Amino acid sequence: MIITLDGPAGAGKSSAARALAARLGWCYMDTGAMYRAVALIALDRSVPLDDATRVAMLADSLAIAFRDGRVFVGDRDVSTEIRTARVTSATRPVADAPPVREVMKQMQRRIAAGIDVVTEGRDQGSEVFPDAEVKVFLTASPVERALRRHREETARGVPLSLDDVLDAQNRRDEGDRTRPVGAMHPAADAVLVETDGLTPEEVVDRLVRLIEARRRPRHA
Ligand code: DC
Repeated sequence: MIITLDGPAGAGKSSAARALAARLGWCYMDTGAMYRAVALIALDRSVPLDDATRVAMLADSLAIAFRDGRVFVGDRDVSTEIRTARVTSATRPVADAPPVREVMKQMQRRIAAGIDVVTEGRDQGSEVFPDAEVKVFLTASPVERALRRHREETARGVPLSLDDVLDAQNRRDEGDRTRPVGAMHPAADAVLVETDGLTPEEVVDRLVRLIEARRRPRHA
C-alpha cells in the first residue's frame, strides 16, 4: 500500500511522514532527500547544475537507498551533508529539470514496488503515484510554517529574522508551484489536512484515522 504526503516546506510533512511510517511499521521515502542527494553528488563531481541531461544521467547512475532512517548513495551515508545551505540551493535547479524529474519518478516507483510505503514530497500523489490508496496534502498558514522554521533555525543557532524566513519561504513556494514539470499541487483526490495549531502527534493521529477509514470495507 502507498500513502502519499505532499505539501509545501514547513507544513510538518517530514515529521508526520516519518512518525506515520514508524507507527505503521512501513518504509518512509523522503523524495526531497533524493533530489538533495543528486545535487550533492553533482556538486562533488563538478557536474554543471544547469546541464539537465548530464544531471539526469548522473541521477540515473546513483543507487539511492533509505536504511534505518538514513539516506545512502551507494555505501555513503549522506544524511547530514544533504541538509547544508549549499546543497539546498543546488537542489533547486536539479528539481526543476524535467529529465531529472523523469529519472527520479522511475526510481521512486522502483523503490516503492511491492512494499508498504509512506512517501513524502511535492508531486507524489499528483504525478508519481496517481493510484496511491491514500493521498494527503498537508498545509499550514504561511506564518505558522515560518514560525516553525524560525524556531528550528534558532534552536540550531542560525541567526535569522522571522521576515527573512518568510521571504525565503515565499520564494521556495513560488518555485515549487510554478516549475513546468512536477509542480506542487494537490492531486484531485487528495485529502487536505491543515496542520495549524496541531501537534505532530495530532497530525499523525488524523492520518492514521484517514488510513483506517480507507481500509474499512465500504459496506461494513
Ligand atoms: O522537502 P525538501 O526541502 O527536502 O526538498 C528539497 C527540494 O526538492 C526542494 O527544492 C523541493 C524539491 N522537491 C521536489 O521538487 N519534488 C519532490 N517530490 C520533493 C522535493
